[in-house]
Amino acid sequence: MRKFMILFGFVLIAAIMLAGCGGGNAPAADEPANQPADSTVSAGDPAAGEALFVTCAACHGADGKGLPNLGKDFTSSEFVRSQSDAEMLAFIKVGRPSGDPANDTGVDMPPKGGNPALSDEDILDIVAYIRTIME
Ligand code: HEC
Repeated sequence: MRKFMILFGFVLIAAIMLAGCGGGNAPAADEPANQPADSTVSAGDPAAGEALFVTCAACHGADGKGLPNLGKDFTSSEFVRSQSDAEMLAFIKVGRPSGDPANDTGVDMPPKGGNPALSDEDILDIVAYIRTIME
């Protein structure tokens, strides 16, 4: 019981110290946009990504240049260029439904391209591959 109380005391002190630091993640909100968020993810393997790209090719074409009324051309996309790997991962996991104000085709970009089996690592491999086919 005594040991438990000591442990509890430590946890309490740690919690107070964390709270004292402004909630821990408060500074993240005003991180500059050009902060390399990539430090949080490891770079993918473009060769593995090429094989996984079939999911995306269904709408974006084998060359990433898009297919009519399906996915759009992202090889010249400023959006893709502006996104870090971590941001691309987050984007692909969520997709961009037709109701999203940023959606300008009126066609859904489904979460994970509609392939829920893709892991974060798989998606980072795909992102690495996408970087190689950018114009
Ligand atoms: C069912 C069709 C479909 C599939 C499959 C699909 N996408 Fe998309 N994707 C779209 C559509 C449609 C858009 C454009 C939405 C809009 O109007 O903003 C889009 C947009 C994007 C964009 C943003 C491009 C830009 O310039 O805004 C990226 C990046 C992207 N897709 C990556 C992927 C990746 C990676 C995969 C495979 C994991 C994938 N997509 C699979 C339909 C698809």
